[in-house]
Amino acid sequence: MGESNSFSLILICMCFLQVIVGDDQLAPALYAFGDSLLDSGNNNYLPTWAKANYYPYGSTSFRFPTGRFSDGKNVADFVAEFLGLPLPPPAMSPESSGTVTGLNYASGSCGILPATGGILGKCLNLDDQINKFQSLVEGELTHHFGSKKDLLNYLSKSIVIFNIGSNDMGAYPLSGSTPQQFAQILLDHLSEALKRLYGLGVRKVVVFEVGPLGCTPGVAKMTPHFGLCSESTNQFISVYNTQLDATLKDLTSTLQGSSFVIARYFSLGLDIIKNPSKYGLTDTRNPCCEALGDGTSSCIPMVPGCKDVAKHFFWDGVHQTEAVYKIESDQCIHNSSFCSPLSIQGLVEL
Ligand SMILES: *[C@@H]1O[C@H](CO)[C@@H](O)[C@H](O)[C@H]1NC(C)=O
Repeated sequence: MGESNSFSLILICMCFLQVIVGDDQLAPALYAFGDSLLDSGNNNYLPTWAKANYYPYGSTSFRFPTGRFSDGKNVADFVAEFLGLPLPPPAMSPESSGTVTGLNYASGSCGILPATGGILGKCLNLDDQINKFQSLVEGELTHHFGSKKDLLNYLSKSIVIFNIGSNDMGAYPLSGSTPQQFAQILLDHLSEALKRLYGLGVRKVVVFEVGPLGCTPGVAKMTPHFGLCSESTNQFISVYNTQLDATLKDLTSTLQGSSFVIARYFSLGLDIIKNPSKYGLTDTRNPCCEALGDGTSSCIPMVPGCKDVAKHFFWDGVHQTEAVYKIESDQCIHNSSFCSPLSIQGLVEL
């Protein structure tokens, strides 16, 4: 009796969602902002050395190099699949024009601060990304929806994800500030960007913590204790993540009707690296592809990746494998202690 009741309740809820957004979509759109952890090919269109548009990138799920800095899909892709949406195309691609199911603005090597990543060429920093989204809302989307009410309804139900900040961490040693001060500079900037999105009508936002970068081959090899996860780097990142959590809570309580969710990736990443077998992995130390700079950087072009990519944590010297992005995505979609205080499932049901 109880079981059949809750079953029909689920059916009613699902029909209700379908009436709102149509088809089998759980949200009308997914928009992604950030760096190479989410980039789906924006850097293909920019003059930069930070590119992943060559073999062996993309060789797992796509079987061709899309510009994603992994062997396959990233977190934006897995979240889009869960929502029943197409994978958000890179906003820089001419073919993305007219897409109303979401776009990807993330750009490899860029960060929160405008100066971050510039050494490698042109990339879309946080402000560039928000500016482009604002143009989309005020131009194409305003046209598409006709009425302001329909546009705001669409924006308020859309899901937005951020993974940004990793590339800014490198500027800390040069900043001459304390970890707390430097983190606050980044978060003031991020906070302004999130308020701009709210001002445009966005309500449901997930922001990923910066991961344990001290454990990446790129960082760890430069420290005396390679393989042990550089303590000082990770401690600094923890300070940033703690302040990020406070910033998001503050935004949620001050901006009416908003939900700013934190994805607690730092601890998960560290746990996967330290206890690989818990997650079905065997190697959480060496990149799967043959990477430049003695395994610390991008994949060497045209050299095949390892045979057991799904058992590796690192795809190249910096980025994770699709297998790891899948673990993160599943956690954020379903676990409200990981994506907190609401999982993506929870955000959808709001
Ligand atoms: C949910 O997330 C928390 C925080 O990351 C973690 O401790 C817990 O094990 C996760 N639960 C499941 C079922 O994965």
